[in-house]
Amino acid sequence: MFKIVKYGDPILERPCAPVTEFNTKELQELVEGMFETMYAAKGVGLAAPQVGISQQLTVIDISAGEDPAQKLVLINPQIVAKEGLQTGEEGCLSIPGFREDVTRAWKTTVRAKNIYGEDFEVTGEELLSRALQHEIDHLHGILFLQHLSPLKRDLIKRKIRKLMKAGEW
Ligand code: NI
Repeated sequence: MFKIVKYGDPILERPCAPVTEFNTKELQELVEGMFETMYAAKGVGLAAPQVGISQQLTVIDISAGEDPAQKLVLINPQIVAKEGLQTGEEGCLSIPGFREDVTRAWKTTVRAKNIYGEDFEVTGEELLSRALQHEIDHLHGILFLQHLSPLKRDLIKRKIRKLMKAGEW
């Protein structure tokens, strides 16, 4: 189980390094720990920088632990195709308490490596498409706040700064 890094920590806004070593015990343990942390926080996606590790790795489970077949581990992922648009509410475990409408591609295809270093592709629609885009953004140091209007973004940042000052962040 990891502690989730919150907005304000610079690690969340830095691009992550690609993973270069596969099929290791460390990688296996990192992935297991990330799933555990994500389920405990009731999230559907978690990226390595959110647990303080600046590497291109993310876990997703849009069933939130209900269906093991939906568990996804994406290492060094790249979006290879996008189709359509959807607008819907989005949040982030690193920005608790704030949810806003974000427009994303309705369908996304991603190429990634698994923990053994093998390439695979996954295509997601609706929520999975949103999760894929949100989590891959994290690996490039991009938070969902960057998809909001400057006005909304600044409002949320001001509220967070207040919470920080009050020691409530
Ligand atoms: Ni997030």
